[in-house]
Amino acid sequence: MTKKVTVSTLNQMKLSGEKIACLTSYDASFAKLQDDAGIDALLIGDSLGMVLHGNNTTVHVTMDDMIYHTRLVSHVRQKALIISDMPYQSYTSPDQAVKNAARLINEGGADMVKLEGGKEMCEVIAAIKRNNIPVCGHLGLTPQSFKTSDLFRVHATTDETAEKLKQDALAIQEAGIDCLVFECIPSKVAKEVTEVLDVPTVGIGAGVDCDGQVLVLYDMLGITGKKFRFLKNFLEGNDSVLDAVKDYIKQVKDKSYPSAEHSFK
Ligand code: KIV
Repeated sequence: MTKKVTVSTLNQMKLSGEKIACLTSYDASFAKLQDDAGIDALLIGDSLGMVLHGNNTTVHVTMDDMIYHTRLVSHVRQKALIISDMPYQSYTSPDQAVKNAARLINEGGADMVKLEGGKEMCEVIAAIKRNNIPVCGHLGLTPQSFKTSDLFRVHATTDETAEKLKQDALAIQEAGIDCLVFECIPSKVAKEVTEVLDVPTVGIGAGVDCDGQVLVLYDMLGITGKKFRFLKNFLEGNDSVLDAVKDYIKQVKDKSYPSAEHSFK
């Protein structure tokens, strides 16, 4: 029997220094392959609005979309922890957030929900946690709060904005998050904040010193053709999608991905 990854597994991994390998996942066939490859966590990201629906942003994704895709993944998952994104405008008040987080768990089969934002999200996070639902935070580049020109830039690059990110991270940890995604921030900032937090951090474009890494599946297989600095096409040099996913897991665990060339200063 395969042992399921839980919130406490992630905490143990942070303590032991074993890196957490996470990828996005949106359907049963890829999810089964990723789970068989040994991925630790599967994120049903609202990036599905871009990579599955073909939109330029994530803001059109609905709760029904998220529940549908989470269910496809949870249906076949044996081992990986399932994290499901709360879509745009689905957590504007504590009551609404609790109701929608519970739908992702009950109807979708998620183990944890993820939401974007710092201190201003503390009440929402605390309310979800009071209902015994694990929560993952998301700081740095937060696609749901984009202004077009902001969407793909590195965040927390000044002393002031790096300090704000750190204070936001500490505040949402205090409110109850169980882990935290850092997107597109300098490696040095990710390292410093990871060291002061008790909860595990998972980076995308945040350097090798986060406790784990996450990438959008379609990006790391070269399907979207995106050329962001932090991306690597793992299908190149591998003969199959399964081998590419296994290679990603290996490179995250042995810390060869992300290297300096995939990181921001
Ligand atoms: O929606 C998503 O895929 C995400 C990752 C980029 C972290 O939030």
